[in-house]
Amino acid sequence: MSARAPGPLPPGLHHYPLRLDPGEQATLLQGIRDVVAKAPLYRPRMPGSGRQFSVRMTNCGALGWVSDAGGYRYQPVHPETGEPWPPIPDMLLALWAELSDYAHPPEACLVNFYEAGARMGLHQDKDETDLDAPVLSVSLGDEALFRIGGTERGGPTRSLRLSSGDVLVMGGPSRLVFHGIDRIYPGTSTLLKGEGRINLTLRRVTRP
Ligand code: SIN
Ligand code: FE2
Repeated sequence: MSARAPGPLPPGLHHYPLRLDPGEQATLLQGIRDVVAKAPLYRPRMPGSGRQFSVRMTNCGALGWVSDAGGYRYQPVHPETGEPWPPIPDMLLALWAELSDYAHPPEACLVNFYEAGARMGLHQDKDETDLDAPVLSVSLGDEALFRIGGTERGGPTRSLRLSSGDVLVMGGPSRLVFHGIDRIYPGTSTLLKGEGRINLTLRRVTRP
């Protein structure tokens, strides 16, 4: 079982350790490799500073989350190839139907790839119009230290170790909590060919 801070998780935040077994993880990984073959990973830039993210990204689904000098937004095409994003793998749609407690399918799946030194600063996921739907996140590959706070920047935070096959749902009162990845732990999983971690986040963007 993954190490975690003592005490229950805040309402609306649900952690399902090893929700995907190793065979399911391998199947999903193949689905993501197929996505990346059509929609290559790229390194986005921050809107203000123009600095590149340490995480490489791509998307699948009708919409994809992008960041560049024009800001954060969702758009239907890959920013470098101009092609529509590939469809979301069926296994992810099934997970959403099972765990989201939301009647409509997700529209976007952000694929984040963390190399050994990559991290993601504390942020809120708030570029979606429909905040009634949760964000559902799946971890594959090396373990990560996930940090989670409240809905105010600068408030207290706690951390949670996420492992390959774990699913995390942030919804209800936890939909807008600050969260980020402090670090990954290279070499803690054999799922990927080398070191690294993939995180998949499913989002509903528009109101149905
Ligand atoms: C994210 O917030 O987009 C990614 C979170 C994670 O990598 O677990
Ligand atoms: Fe996020």
